[in-house]
Amino acid sequence: MVNIEKLREEAISSIESCETISDLSKLRISLLGKKGSIQGLMVQMKNLSNEEKPKFGQVVNSLKQEISNLIDEKNSLLQEKELLEKLEEEKIDITLPGYSYNLGTTHPLMMIKEEIEDLFIGLGYQIVEGPEVELDFYNFERANIPAGHPARDMQDTFYIDVETLLRTHTTAIQMRVLEKEANNLPIKVICPGKVYRRDDDDATHSHQFMQAEGLLVGENITLSDLKGTLDIMAKAMFGKTRNIRIRPSYFQFTEPSIEVDVSCHMCDGVGCPVCKGTGYIEILGAGMVHPNVLEMANIDSKKYTGFAFGVGIERIAMLRYGIDDIRNFYVNDVRFLNMFNKGE
Ligand code: DAH
Repeated sequence: MVNIEKLREEAISSIESCETISDLSKLRISLLGKKGSIQGLMVQMKNLSNEEKPKFGQVVNSLKQEISNLIDEKNSLLQEKELLEKLEEEKIDITLPGYSYNLGTTHPLMMIKEEIEDLFIGLGYQIVEGPEVELDFYNFERANIPAGHPARDMQDTFYIDVETLLRTHTTAIQMRVLEKEANNLPIKVICPGKVYRRDDDDATHSHQFMQAEGLLVGENITLSDLKGTLDIMAKAMFGKTRNIRIRPSYFQFTEPSIEVDVSCHMCDGVGCPVCKGTGYIEILGAGMVHPNVLEMANIDSKKYTGFAFGVGIERIAMLRYGIDDIRNFYVNDVRFLNMFNKGE
């Protein structure tokens, strides 16, 4: 009994002084395991008399139970302690500056393109795209510019073979839409896309650039509808106080044809270097769809009329942001592109 009490005291003190879960589990084995010291007491049973045996057994069992409970309690204490230590160690210092990630920004040309799309979607138009590798047929023939016509020289063309080319204007999409939707009038579409010309690149010319073509065909469509529509567009692009003026012009695919100027957003029409002192800036070409063009697409030009316009996306962007070299749009210098970062 004296041995048992001694063992008990030793066990209790080593449990108390134990500091880690792994030490505690070693201790548990050395006390309660099959070869452990408490189990070892049982071996002594055989030396006892029959009356002493049950008493001894009881004492050892209750010791076992007591020690096992103490170890369990200590175990949960240590678990809690280790958890707290771990949390302390992993504490996040929220005062540290964060990492910054460089996000891409919307390209200025895409911004203008999307703005035009949004505006015309709001006016009930649909967006239609077409192939950049186009047939001569849609780019020229159907636009009332037959083979050999001098008007072809106005747009130097990259030919792929005799009948295939890189489209020189989004007017090619207009011709496809007229053909496809001839029996589905009215037509109200806006057609953005890349176009190509065999130009030498300089500050104002690029062999590849972007346009958006607008087309509306229906009954009783007049030049004043075109003028009103372009007025809305000019105000959306350059500010509410802008106004437009139209001048006669010439395109094969429109009659009459007009050139559209917007009052200068830099000087409010007074005259400055941007508008070359005139108070107005030319922004696009437009006109009433030529009857030949409608007839070629099997649309009755006596019953239906329409207007069309073609606007250069780069031109709008250059005017709006005061950019003097078109090549800035294509070289992807992040210092340039970041100027258009609206912090999205
Ligand atoms: N296709 C012309 C060009 O690239 C622009 C244009 C002018 C388009 C008048 C039109 C239009 O739809 O009616 O220079």
